[in-house]
Amino acid sequence: MMPSIVKRMFASLVVICLLKGTFAQQRPAWAKETPEQKEKRMAWWTNDRFGLFIHWGLYAMPARHEWVQHYEKISPENYRKYFSLFNPDMFDPKEWARQAKLAGMKYMVITTKHHEGFCLWDTKFTEYKITNTPYGKDLIKPMVEAFRAEGIRIGFYYSLIDWNHPHFSLDGSHPPTPADPAKRAEENTKRDMKVYQQYMKDQLRELLTQYGKIDELFLDFSYNGKGRNEWDSENLLKLVRQLQPQIIVNDRLDLNDTDWGWDYKTPEQFIPSEWVKVNGKKVPWETCQTFSGSWGYHRDENTWKSVNQLILMLIETVSKGGNLLLNVGPTARGNFDERATERLEGIGKWMRYNNRSIYGCTEAPATFSKPPNCLLTYNATTKRLYIHVLQWPFKSLHLPGYKGKFRYAQFLHDGSEIRFSSPAASGSHTTETGNAGDVVLQLPVVKPGVEVPVIELILE
Ligand code: GLC
Repeated sequence: MMPSIVKRMFASLVVICLLKGTFAQQRPAWAKETPEQKEKRMAWWTNDRFGLFIHWGLYAMPARHEWVQHYEKISPENYRKYFSLFNPDMFDPKEWARQAKLAGMKYMVITTKHHEGFCLWDTKFTEYKITNTPYGKDLIKPMVEAFRAEGIRIGFYYSLIDWNHPHFSLDGSHPPTPADPAKRAEENTKRDMKVYQQYMKDQLRELLTQYGKIDELFLDFSYNGKGRNEWDSENLLKLVRQLQPQIIVNDRLDLNDTDWGWDYKTPEQFIPSEWVKVNGKKVPWETCQTFSGSWGYHRDENTWKSVNQLILMLIETVSKGGNLLLNVGPTARGNFDERATERLEGIGKWMRYNNRSIYGCTEAPATFSKPPNCLLTYNATTKRLYIHVLQWPFKSLHLPGYKGKFRYAQFLHDGSEIRFSSPAASGSHTTETGNAGDVVLQLPVVKPGVEVPVIELILE
């Protein structure tokens, strides 16, 4: 017989566990995977580091942000005008893929359906799709084929939110939501999220069976009132994993208290201060970023980042062990607008000569301190350290404590030797000899003609 105090303690433990959802967190049988298996599954992704996000839908026509329907409270009837006119006559996915490839991007993620609910493929489950617009043809298949032909992997973005589906229950995110909560509640009695859950599964089944191997899935997103129960997240993910066992899935299904319900974290329009951690452990992460303040094509948005800023963003992300998913919002004619093209070209110019400091790279070991105005990345396989010099110094780059740690230094863009000395300074009229462990790199006075010069150290 259990003493009653023990019984009571046991009972409260069960209650606490239930409250904390501990049982829900248990790894289901279908999600069994060792950390090593997960690392292997994600190996291409952690190697490739740089992807292209594409936000494209009817919202390219108003060209005032992809949330325009919500922001401007456009009724479904009014929003239909875009649907009845959408005709991206200049759509040329080969050109998109060419630009992405030149920019050095290794994977792409396309919005198959955004919050507006419009589908870019010929889905059987709604009439609100590309084949019913004047354009009349599936956009996803030619896109997937064109990017694959350039060796670029394929990711699908799929919006969990749906402003068009008649069973998606109304909430504050919805454009035609009646402001009056009583009216909203009344309308919601006619809506059945179970029907919508099935719709999502049916559509994901199409997307994950009709286009070959899909490498990444970006589901977007959960918030107060819409989460794991409303989406039926666990079963949705189960289906995804069954259909595409190797797929890499983001973290927006509201399963973040588990270690099996997501593969990577997604800081959005935000650069974390350090490698993203969960429960104190470094985890895979990918920051998604826009060129300007909008994901969808926004004609009048003028806060475009410079090429220099974008290159730094990529380097900084990799220097903290992350991936960068950089977004283009194509126009309603089907092109990348020239501001986007110019930036992709600028990044590509830099990547062409310097991608060795990005692909296969990660955060540098803590034993290498960061020189002033520099960012470090590191390739553990080739044992090379990359010093990205953000602001050009005068002749000397001081490397504290680097003595004996590397045997050769060169610029990455032209493979030209960089001489170095230790103690740090010698010769007449210099004021210091430095610490015994320091090294000074002897740089040219004039900054080389690359946006961000990179120095490659071949380590001992
Ligand atoms: C947000 C926005 C959305 C965009 C996404 C990209 O969740 O709702 O418009 O697609 O971020 O991560």
